[in-house]
Amino acid sequence: MSDGSIQPVLTDREFKKISAFVYDVCGIKLPPIKKTMLSARLQKRLRQLRITSFSDYFSYVLSPEGRAHELPLMIDVVSTNKTDFFREAKHFDVLTTRVLPDFVKRFAQGNRKLLRVWSAGCSSGEEPYTLAMVLDDFFSKVAGIDFSILATDICTEVLAKAEKAVYHDAGLEPIPTRFRYKYLMRGKGQQKGYHRVVPELRRKVSFQRLNFMDKCFAIDHKMDIIFCRNVIIYFDKKTQADLFAKFREQFMAYGYLFIGHSESLEGPAGQMERVASAVYKCVK
Ligand SMILES: C[S@@+](CC[C@H](N)C(=O)[O-])C[C@H]1O[C@@H](n2cnc3c(N)ncnc32)[C@H](O)[C@@H]1O
Repeated sequence: MSDGSIQPVLTDREFKKISAFVYDVCGIKLPPIKKTMLSARLQKRLRQLRITSFSDYFSYVLSPEGRAHELPLMIDVVSTNKTDFFREAKHFDVLTTRVLPDFVKRFAQGNRKLLRVWSAGCSSGEEPYTLAMVLDDFFSKVAGIDFSILATDICTEVLAKAEKAVYHDAGLEPIPTRFRYKYLMRGKGQQKGYHRVVPELRRKVSFQRLNFMDKCFAIDHKMDIIFCRNVIIYFDKKTQADLFAKFREQFMAYGYLFIGHSESLEGPAGQMERVASAVYKCVK
């Protein structure tokens, strides 16, 4: 409903400038078809800031204050955060039947006891908590190996939701019943209709804001498994290739990369062996 005030119009020139900037900052491509969406979503911010044109808004975003305070909110507006528990569920079968047994064998030969997994582009947490459920269940039957999950995203809004670990019941359907009983707590009172992930599982997942466009990743440890699913579809080929080169760097000598089923790993595929649909092995 209109409040009677005049809505600023996003011109083609302003759209081009903003989309080129978004591409530079986070690699996300905004084709012209996204102009209406961008305009509608940013109008709310303009109203809140009492800014009357998109040009003035963009100048503000570029200012030192804007870069610190507004840019993260603008990125929240342009990112697509759709996710689900057990999304592309076949991946979790590949994980438990092939990838984890492979690591169990390898760890038995060496002296490693902690498996490190990275959910890269974790959105609101459904992916890292799915991983935590699957890994906890698997390693409860294998003595001597523990796991930790790093979950990162560029979008501050989804990270805040992920850290709370509270989910509406409507989104829990893909979680197998026995996992729901084991790993979720039913909300009471005001939290009725919601579930929260149990603390033992929450402790296994740490969250961090990270932009894939950063020159090098501020991550302390090398990874055994990287899930980066339904992220690179928003990037062009060059950005994808650069990202996979950085993932290679972030792997231990031996690791597995999971990408989304509608994504492909063209450029760097020569350096990684395809082991299942959208699953690659990286040997350095
Ligand atoms: C569609 S969600 C996918 C979530 C989850 N991986 C899944 O498959 O359900 C894509 C996520 O990638 C994040 N993303 C997009 N560009 C990014 C960037 N440059 N750096 C880090 N994360 C980014 C978005 O914020 C979004 O949460």
